Amino acid sequence: MEISAFDEQASAQFYYCCSAQQPHKTQPRANRAEGPIPRFPLQHLETHAAEFLDTIRKHGFVVLSDIGFEGECLCQNLMLHLQSFFAQDDWSKARCTSKNNVYRSERGVPMWFLGYELDTFREAFRMQASRPDAQPWPSTDLKKSWLSLLKFVREICDKCLAIAIGKDFVPPSPYDNDYSVAYAVHYPNLDSTFDPYNPSGHTLNINEHCDPSLFVIEPCTHVQGLEILDHNSRSWIQVEQHCIPGKELILFGGKALQRSTYPPIPAAPHRVGRAQNQSRHVFIYEQKYESYFDAPVFD
Ligand SMILES: [Fe+2]
Repeated sequence: MEISAFDEQASAQFYYCCSAQQPHKTQPRANRAEGPIPRFPLQHLETHAAEFLDTIRKHGFVVLSDIGFEGECLCQNLMLHLQSFFAQDDWSKARCTSKNNVYRSERGVPMWFLGYELDTFREAFRMQASRPDAQPWPSTDLKKSWLSLLKFVREICDKCLAIAIGKDFVPPSPYDNDYSVAYAVHYPNLDSTFDPYNPSGHTLNINEHCDPSLFVIEPCTHVQGLEILDHNSRSWIQVEQHCIPGKELILFGGKALQRSTYPPIPAAPHRVGRAQNQSRHVFIYEQKYESYFDAPVFD
């Protein structure tokens, strides 16, 4: 990925963030799709497009490895900003909610105010990816970090969509009809929220579902939570158990991608498990271009 994905000042910040770490080797590893999880080097996306398609069609998801030093810094830097943001007091976070700007889904349905929201079991910070100016940003630093990672993952998803759709691909630029969503979620995963009557001890924060989106991408987190139903083995995979936190990206498809591809890339059923008493922060980008949805209907 090009270094131009972020500006000079932000770049210096990311290098500062990662300066204490040994740069991750960017030499692509062999495709390890035959391993416990399907894994594909990011650099091979376009040069080995057919293999990529075979892999994600077979499993419904793929882990993108070897994302490069800049990519790793972007992921790790935003994670630090998110942890700081969610650690603030409730008042400070609540003021980062816009009461004037509402996200409407691709069907024109009002979903939520942009920015911070608190739920009983999680808190989130949400933005419409194409409307950074409407966003109530907590700080300039978080905004820069967020938008840099957003650009990085959006370009990856656009490449994947171009590969998946082929000659019928409609370029998303200039994002006029872009309902894509970027959001961060904090799951406190407190012991007190556990169900003592669940004999397996395996409890969920989010039940099984498929997203309405095209591609969905998440940087691998340190605390596991995402579980995907492998289309090939028909078994649930705790994906983060097999990933390198901060160095790999989890990519899967939603219902719009399944509708728009032939042979279809199956929408990936997934759910979010609850890691006992381990706080989990995650950043998610869901690709939603109007061209691949029914026309929205506004009030
Ligand atoms: Fe989801």
